[in-house]
Parts: sequence; C-alpha cells; structure tokens
Amino acid sequence: MKVKAAVAYSAGKPLSIEMVDLAGPQAGEVLVEIKATGVCHTDAYTLSGADPEGLFPAILGHEGAGIVAEIGAGVTSVKVGDRVIPLYIPECRNCEYCLSRKTNLCQAIRLTQGQGVMPDGTSRFSIDGQKIHHYMGTSTFANYTVLPEIAVAKIRDDAPFDKVCLIGCGVTTGIGAVINTAKVEPGSNVVVFGLGGVGLNVIQAARLVGANMIVGVDLNSEKRQMAEKFGMTHFVNPSEIEGDLVAYLVDLTKGGADYTFECIGNINVMRQALECCHKGWGVSVIVGVAGAGQEISTRPFQLVTGRVWKGTAFGGAKGRTDVPKIVDWYMDGKINIDSLVSQVMPIEQINQAFDAMHKGEVIRTVLTF
Ligand code: APR
Ligand code: ZN
Repeated sequence: MKVKAAVAYSAGKPLSIEMVDLAGPQAGEVLVEIKATGVCHTDAYTLSGADPEGLFPAILGHEGAGIVAEIGAGVTSVKVGDRVIPLYIPECRNCEYCLSRKTNLCQAIRLTQGQGVMPDGTSRFSIDGQKIHHYMGTSTFANYTVLPEIAVAKIRDDAPFDKVCLIGCGVTTGIGAVINTAKVEPGSNVVVFGLGGVGLNVIQAARLVGANMIVGVDLNSEKRQMAEKFGMTHFVNPSEIEGDLVAYLVDLTKGGADYTFECIGNINVMRQALECCHKGWGVSVIVGVAGAGQEISTRPFQLVTGRVWKGTAFGGAKGRTDVPKIVDWYMDGKINIDSLVSQVMPIEQINQAFDAMHKGEVIRTVLTF
C-alpha cells in the first residue's frame, strides 16, 4: 500500500513528505494506522547526524498512537480496530530480561530494531524500490506503520490520539522514573533538573505519590509557571543564585534531596543531581539522554557515603502492561497531558515542529495525519 510519510533522507536535511510503499504485516506483526505523533528530542538527535547509530533513509518518530488496521498470522493480543500505542521498548514476556522481572529492557528484537529493520531482517518501507529504514521499531512519522505484536500496547477505545500519543515516550518516561525507577515515597523531598516535557512529568508523578518538596531547577525562568501547575513547590534558576548550586539545594532541602532527576541530558548537571542528594540514602536518577561518547564523573566518596546513582529508559515501564494503566490515569483525570500539548499541526508541517522544539518554544508539538 501507499502511505504518507515524512522521510529523513540524510542527516541534517529537512524531512520530506512522500508517498512511500509499505508492505503488509508478516506473521506476528500488525499494521497500525497512526493518528497522532509527538516530536521528541531523540528524533532530532538522530536527524542531526550526531547519533552514531542513525540510519538513513529512515522514517523517524516514536511517540505515536493509532488503530490496528490489519494483523499478521498468529497475532492474538490485538485485533483490527483496537487503539494502540507503539512501543520502542517492546515487552515479549518471554526473554531472559522480561522473565527476570527486574528490568523493562526486553531484548527480544533489540538487534534488528537497532538495524532499522523488522525481526525478519527486512524493512516494510520502500520508495521506488529503495529500502527505507524503520526507526526505534516504531516509525510513527507515517500514517501507517508495521510493528511486531510485542511492540504495541492496547489501550482503551475512548482515549484521544492527539493526547495519549505522548504516553509513547515523554509522559511514561517522566512518570515511570518516579514510580518504577526511584519508587519515591510520600513525604520525600525531590529535585527535578530540567522542566521540559520530561521534567514536568517527573513533577506530576512526584505530586501524585505525595512528595513533600518538589524543587524544579531550570535556566529558563519562563518554565516556572507551567511547572507550578504540575506540582512544583520551589523553583531555582541556577543563573540567579549566588555561589554553588549543589550547596544551595542541599540547604534548601535541609540536608539534601531524597530523590533527584536529571531531565536534560547534561553530564555536568548529572553530577550536580547526584551530589545534592542526601547523605546516606539520596537516590539520583538519570533520565535525560547525553550525547554519544560522553562520560559522567563524581568522587567515589559520594557513593561510599550512601548516595545512589541510577538511570532509566522509558521510565522503567513494561510497555504492554504499564502503558494502558497510564492511559487510564489520564482518562480518570489523575495526570495532566493536555497542558503538555503546545500545538497540534498536520504532518506536512513537521519541519516547523522541529524548529519550534529547537527554539525551546514548545513543550510538545503533536502532529496529525
Ligand atoms: N541547567 C538547568 N536547566 C537546563 C540546563 C541546565 N544546564 N540546560 C537546559 N535546561 C532546561 C531547558 O531550559 C529546558 O527547560 O532543561 C529543559 C529541557 O527540556 P526540553 O528541551 O523540553 O527536553 P525534554 O523533552 O524534557 O527532554 C529532556 O530527556 O528524553 C530526553 O533527549 C531528551 O535529553 C532530553 C531530556
Ligand atoms: Zn522480552
């Protein structure tokens, strides 16, 4: 079939809207009509050429929602008409990783996903007979995409696509970091570095679990108002305080934070986030994605004296199990997604959506088809 897609032909070039060929789902795969997709920093990172694993040409996009249009042989967990969210971390419930119950990093299709192809080693996308790579196993910048069954989360039938698509990445990453990875307890003091789409979700989850202080740190004071709406209790702009930021935050939290979250991807901030944790028990979670090859550092004494450094991918969420629950939380009014959607535009304006993200003008742009 012919589908409409934003094709990334090469690094650093604008995306091009094309009609491309999409082959139908093979055994164990599903065809999904994508109804809405967010634009996230990871897409921009790969498009920029800075991602050493980036493959071109490719159809990017990993924060989508849609409807199952066709199922391949042997597919049992979803049927035509089901609403789904594509998962860039699948959940096979069968591999060593899934069975460990200690991680969400299912490895069932890891190798082929990284190679930009389906589990059988081939791509479903092509243009004029030339192969186009899949991206993160999702390729949501197309109005139809093919996914392995284990990489779709079935969600309820009344969930609005242009909101719940953000659960495919940013919302789950932030909320899951608090609930699954850090397991923040009621009464905890929390510091969140970076008040973008991810940081705001950390904040609303911290409020949800009953945190005491929720301190937001951002160089851009314009982020304050929105963060307060999500539950931030104290705001710190590092450029406006005198002296050392770590000492300031330790003082503010009366001895250090119980939990901190780095939601920027800056290795210097990662160090600050660890070091403003409380001696003896403070836990710092790296959520932001640093550039390839970058390294973090601190004095080992920080860990010897009880601080813990962790990281999280997709908020530690097991996609098929946890994503439907987060959709329910949204539908029940427990979490706010509406305020994260700064603008909705047709896929044809995707390059403007990237520009707006680079300028820091938006929390998220949602594209529709
Ligand atoms: N100190 C404090 N705040 C900073 C700093 C800094 N050194 N550098 C940037 N910021 C703030 C920005 O002002 C912005 O508000 O961090 C925020 C980052 O937000 P976004 O750019 O909207 O990013 P977001 O979508 O939240 O993603 C954050 O998570 O998924 C990853 O790749 C993504 O690494 C990125 C991170
Ligand atoms: Zn698995």
